[in-house]
Amino acid sequence: MPVPSAVHGTAERALTLVQEWLAHEEFADSRLVVVTRGAVATSDEGDVRDLAGAAVWGLVRSAQNEHPDRLLLVDLDDQSASWDALSTALAAATDAGETQLALRDGSPYTPRLTRVSADERGEAPALDPDGTVLVTGATGTLGSLLARHLVREYGARHLLLTSRSGPNAPGATELHAELQALGASVTITACDTADRDALASLLDTVPDAHPLTAVFHTAGVLDDTTLTNLTPELY
Ligand SMILES: NC(=O)c1ccc[n+]([C@@H]2O[C@H](COP(=O)([O-])OP(=O)(O)OC[C@H]3O[C@@H](n4cnc5c(N)ncnc54)[C@H](OP(=O)(O)O)[C@@H]3O)[C@@H](O)[C@H]2O)c1
Repeated sequence: MPVPSAVHGTAERALTLVQEWLAHEEFADSRLVVVTRGAVATSDEGDVRDLAGAAVWGLVRSAQNEHPDRLLLVDLDDQSASWDALSTALAAATDAGETQLALRDGSPYTPRLTRVSADERGEAPALDPDGTVLVTGATGTLGSLLARHLVREYGARHLLLTSRSGPNAPGATELHAELQALGASVTITACDTADRDALASLLDTVPDAHPLTAVFHTAGVLDDTTLTNLTPELY
């Protein structure tokens, strides 16, 4: 099955499952354990192999915020030692109030925030000043902030900014003028990111002299709701 279909289908089934679980009064004092395999990375080198499982993690982590203590996420690898360690690790994770757990070769891992030093953070990735930078949704709040930031802080000089309204969007004329005054050459074009053909035609307009070197996708329409009211269409 193609990955996008697998992601949609699996996330939809997980949504139904979690909603049904939460609706059952008799489960009110118990916890649903959602088990995936290869859906999260436990190290910088870790490889996420199951993108559909990763989407389930996103969904369930949001659900955990709305329904604390009702859901536990567990990710396994292919090692039998991890299956063997599962019940003990689950008990320990539940006692410790953990909401996320991964087992790798039988060892448990739980996520922790750690302080990152300036050295560890390393150099910010450089933008090629001769390359074209595409920002989708660039006439919106995040996109226009990002476009300004890319020009001011990262030296972007060739910007291709899109949204469905394009140059007709409120503030587009001012944004164009502001970025040009900062030294960037700017094209604001109407293009629906969800329209594959329109997107292909847009990319054909990128000049050879300034090939596409970076894409920032900020296009989006907020239509959110709480988990119990969520439908597959909204999700
Ligand atoms: N602002 C936040 O603090 C925040 C935080 C977390 C997540 N987000 C998410 O980040 C995304 C952007 O947020 P925002 O605050 O910048 O929203 P916004 O101000 O409404 O901007 C969204 C931009 O995306 C464009 N757009 C929407 N659908 C498009 C499509 N199919 N093709 C091309 N462009 C499209 C809109 O323009 P047109 O309508 O003209 O196409 C607009 O320029 C949203 O999905 C939002 O849910 C935002």
